[in-house]
Amino acid sequence: MRINLSFGNTPLEYSAFLSREYPAKIFIKKEFFNPGGSSKDRVAFFILKHGIDSGLIHSNTEIVEASSGNTAIGIALLCRQLGLKCKVFVSNKASMEKIKILQSLQAVINNSGHSGGPDDPCSSLSLAKSYCIRNPNTFYCNQYFNSLNTESHFQTTGPEIWENTKGTVTHFICGVGTGGTISGVGKFLKMKNPDVKIIGVEPVGSILKDYLSGNSAGTKIYKSSLIEGIGRNFIPGNFHSEFIDHIIQVKEKDCILAAYRYANHCSDLIGFSSAAVLAALYRINKKLEVGQNVVLLFADSGDRYLSKLYSKNWLVQNGFHSLVSDFKSSQFRVEKNISAWEKL
Ligand SMILES: Cc1ncc(COP(=O)(O)O)c(C=O)c1O
Repeated sequence: MRINLSFGNTPLEYSAFLSREYPAKIFIKKEFFNPGGSSKDRVAFFILKHGIDSGLIHSNTEIVEASSGNTAIGIALLCRQLGLKCKVFVSNKASMEKIKILQSLQAVINNSGHSGGPDDPCSSLSLAKSYCIRNPNTFYCNQYFNSLNTESHFQTTGPEIWENTKGTVTHFICGVGTGGTISGVGKFLKMKNPDVKIIGVEPVGSILKDYLSGNSAGTKIYKSSLIEGIGRNFIPGNFHSEFIDHIIQVKEKDCILAAYRYANHCSDLIGFSSAAVLAALYRINKKLEVGQNVVLLFADSGDRYLSKLYSKNWLVQNGFHSLVSDFKSSQFRVEKNISAWEKL
């Protein structure tokens, strides 16, 4: 079995709009250029390739994963190419768009679990694991605890950012879910230049910020965020504090404002966690200086969230009436809210 899929080498683009707004130069690593539409294709490739090379995956093995959707899509895409059976335990907050992509890729979907940790028997993670224990001819990808997740970003995303910026990157900012992206990229960039600042982003209420700052994190009750892919109530095995300088917590409302504001100016619909990265960038605005080069990682794109972030009905249903009442016609106009945004 050979994987014949090219992934990575995604564009790193200078953002003229954001660079006008901040003293530093801002670049965007556009991970939605990967074949499955997200940064998680890198992880899927590394885990499956290793499984095949080490003889753990055979032609009749069923591949199993728990995911908020993007890792599942990367895995399902590879399984389709390799002719392998694929079963994904997708958390119940996964968008309709991701579910439809998974269905098109002929993955078997179980979306009854939520995005809790390994100690919660109802989490998609626990459901996936127990399914594999009960069914011997399975291979559990285990993105939260499989070190190949971090390794994929250490071997690919980190070097790409270093080369694309010709070693001038000063800050890297990304959303944190399993921790694989921030840990792998952080490990590589800090190996090249220990002064590069590695900054993670999570929703308010998630526990990784407390964990990083040495405060007790285990007892917190975390109501899962609306932002898919980021925010945790447990410490994933791929979260390596030694490569991370800060975690910034963002409110969902600020992410929505950031997404619409970006759409107004750049005519581009960004993903929800990418909007969280923009909201975090705004928070460190005053710390940025001329001469610095900030790389933002956009893990996926807005077309995965048309029924959520970019749907007025969804915004109303989730309590963001005040934002919606300010939208003018069907355009992505939140100019009235920009004054609110400026005060954040
Ligand atoms: C859209 C999105 N953003 C960010 C992340 C977080 O990346 P990581 O799991 O590498 O921390 C994920 C993870 O699934 C994701 O799907």
